[in-house]
Amino acid sequence: MILLTGATGRVGSAAAKALISAGVPFRALIRDPDKLHFDPDAAEIVQGDLNDAAIVERALQGVSSALIVMGNHPDQSKLERQFASLAADAGVSHLVKVSSMEAAPDATATLPKNHYDTEQHIASLGVDWTFLRPNYYMQNMLMYAGSIARADSFALPLGTAKTAMIDARDVGEVAAVVLTGEGHAEQAYRLTGPALMDFHEVAAHMAAMLGRPVSYVAQSPEAFRGVLGQFIQSAWQLDAVCELFAEIAAGSLEEQTSTVADLLGRPAMDLETFTRQFAAAFAPVS
Ligand SMILES: NC(=O)c1ccc[n+]([C@@H]2O[C@H](COP(=O)([O-])OP(=O)(O)OC[C@H]3O[C@@H](n4cnc5c(N)ncnc54)[C@H](OP(=O)(O)O)[C@@H]3O)[C@@H](O)[C@H]2O)c1
Repeated sequence: MILLTGATGRVGSAAAKALISAGVPFRALIRDPDKLHFDPDAAEIVQGDLNDAAIVERALQGVSSALIVMGNHPDQSKLERQFASLAADAGVSHLVKVSSMEAAPDATATLPKNHYDTEQHIASLGVDWTFLRPNYYMQNMLMYAGSIARADSFALPLGTAKTAMIDARDVGEVAAVVLTGEGHAEQAYRLTGPALMDFHEVAAHMAAMLGRPVSYVAQSPEAFRGVLGQFIQSAWQLDAVCELFAEIAAGSLEEQTSTVADLLGRPAMDLETFTRQFAAAFAPVS
């Protein structure tokens, strides 16, 4: 049996849909069934929080491989490690963790450092592991959909830094392939989209697809923090995101790989297709 965490999220729900399409049975540990984006009858659902060890132990019964993915939170590292330890104790033989491209021994920013430290913990447990280290998610652009819809522009503190944005759904499909296939043990996959570009180029690609001007405004880190602070209540999260964006501005995500295409046997999703699929979210406000 395969167990998915994060199955109401972007990566986890894509992994679930890929498993459903492939006819592979799985179980999902979720907090809120109302947030499911797939047919609940297509999977075994265990309802509970990752901070509830008894629920996690119940969800892990009879599981051979598991996906670890959770949103960023001060307790993320603690809960993912606890999950991994309980999984190893329960006899799970393969753990697949969604990490980040910047996870590395010399990472200092909180989010990539936490990912790397969690990877190290998983690697110490004596089970097979695979780490998925994605670049910047295209879905992050949906946070700016309102701004693009209202003002044909979006602002980020990223200067002319490049990223090779990846569709989070591709990360989920890769997770499904890794959970069900052979030869992925002890692999850290660096996952990117198909094009390395700065955000002026991102804006130009989106404009071409939407058929109207879209511009990128390079914002100062201070202005970014001020705007973000209106939406993020947690000081921990605000600091962690600002720190991460400073690293991205300095070029931490300027890398493109063919790993998604190699693993999925089709090209990685491109920004044009993503923009077309979410065009309604970017549509002008009338
Ligand atoms: N955004 C990026 O550009 C980017 C790039 C590289 C890596 N990443 C990494 O990707 C991961 C996030 O993936 P995502 O975008 O798929 O996340 P997401 O859409 O925010 O979903 C997070 C999932 O985790 C679940 N969750 C959170 N806390 C939980 C808890 N205490 N117990 C049980 N479930 C819990 C959520 O459940 P609810 O629905 O109940 O909240 C949801 O299913 C993070 O580790 C991040 O560092 C992100």
